[in-house]
Amino acid sequence: MIDPPPMSEIDTHCHILPGLDDGPSELDESLDIAESLIQMGVRTVVATPHVMSDTYPLSSEQIRQATAALQEELCSRGLALEVLPGAEYYVESQFLQRIDQGDILAWGEERCVLFETAVAQASMLFKEAIFQLSSAGYTPVLAHVERYHFLQNNPEAMASLKKMGTRFQVNYRSFGLPRVSQRGETARQLYIKGMIDYLGTDSHCADAFGLSLAARSSALSISDKIGR
Ligand SMILES: [Fe+2]
Repeated sequence: MIDPPPMSEIDTHCHILPGLDDGPSELDESLDIAESLIQMGVRTVVATPHVMSDTYPLSSEQIRQATAALQEELCSRGLALEVLPGAEYYVESQFLQRIDQGDILAWGEERCVLFETAVAQASMLFKEAIFQLSSAGYTPVLAHVERYHFLQNNPEAMASLKKMGTRFQVNYRSFGLPRVSQRGETARQLYIKGMIDYLGTDSHCADAFGLSLAARSSALSISDKIGR
């Protein structure tokens, strides 16, 4: 089994905002996540609460406000972590409407947008969402690529997504999963093939597992494997 790579300085997928989704319910828990990220070497975290019309119908404004409030708390406690507003958008018709209306939280110069679909089978709107994001000037970033059953052991499908301009985000903790785990093996294969664009912790609470992984990660540079 290969060594886990070091965690990147930007965590592109994290449920760090309190009281919005299935992440922390209280500020203290958000601060615990922040501390574990800092210990992992993370300097910037994109706050990506679930946005899903039936379960988490969050507005962009709600997320922006919660991000600003958390940033203020971090600064007042001397915790050196930058928080950017983002979301983990679920592919559904409401997501396409948001793209249409320009009501999307994107991060970075390339206006990256994190999105997810059902694990077992991609939504009928999956490719349409990627197309619409690209057409509107966003960079589509597929969340935890290693989880999807329709992509595991399917290099053609992965290549086709890349061809459409989709970037791949992989969950850091997947590198610590055993060999029998499809998710773990897919993450490792993507890493070896240099197909990972972004790492994320996908933390919903303080990440002790990620922290221990980061501690035993290879000291070698992975800039050739993970481009950003
Ligand atoms: Fe997530």
